[in-house]
Amino acid sequence: MTRWLRGFTAVVAVLAAGTMSLSFDAVAQSGKSRQKQRPPTVSFKEDIFPILKGRCLDCHQPGGAGFDASGLDLRTHAGLMKGTKFGPMVVKGDPDGSSLMALLDWRVKPEIRMPHGMKKLSTCDRDAIRHWIQEGALDN
Ligand code: HEC
Repeated sequence: MTRWLRGFTAVVAVLAAGTMSLSFDAVAQSGKSRQKQRPPTVSFKEDIFPILKGRCLDCHQPGGAGFDASGLDLRTHAGLMKGTKFGPMVVKGDPDGSSLMALLDWRVKPEIRMPHGMKKLSTCDRDAIRHWIQEGALDN
């Protein structure tokens, strides 16, 4: 191989590598934005509120034992997001960092496991709430 031909091949190789990494970046970018745009699968109104209404609301509205003790009002999305008198229980997008999930999964001392003094929520109900938090705890 002549000297110029060897030089030429090297330049082509460098160019090809550059183009490849550019297109990999483009794929990674479009993958990221696709994930952001994916519509939520869990609805607060249709999936989450009915659970709260059936299992929590009796105690967590003004006059109920849970509201009186903690200040948590579960009649609305805003009430749930506001949390207790000590602060929020839901961290948008972070179910593991949300103390609400620890109470519902019974990863806390018995006195504050919820629903208070009653049967644990089903795995299915808890997973729905987990996914709703994961998707940003929307009022949807
Ligand atoms: C039978 C009544 C009752 C039911 C039903 C109930 N709670 Fe409670 N809840 C309480 C009481 C009482 C407290 C105060 C507990 C304490 O601080 O000792 C409380 C406290 C809480 C707290 C705050 C805990 C803290 O660390 O301060 C959260 C969050 C909560 N409840 C969520 C729920 C959710 C979600 C449900 C439904 C799945 C639910 N509760 C069902 C009575 C109830």
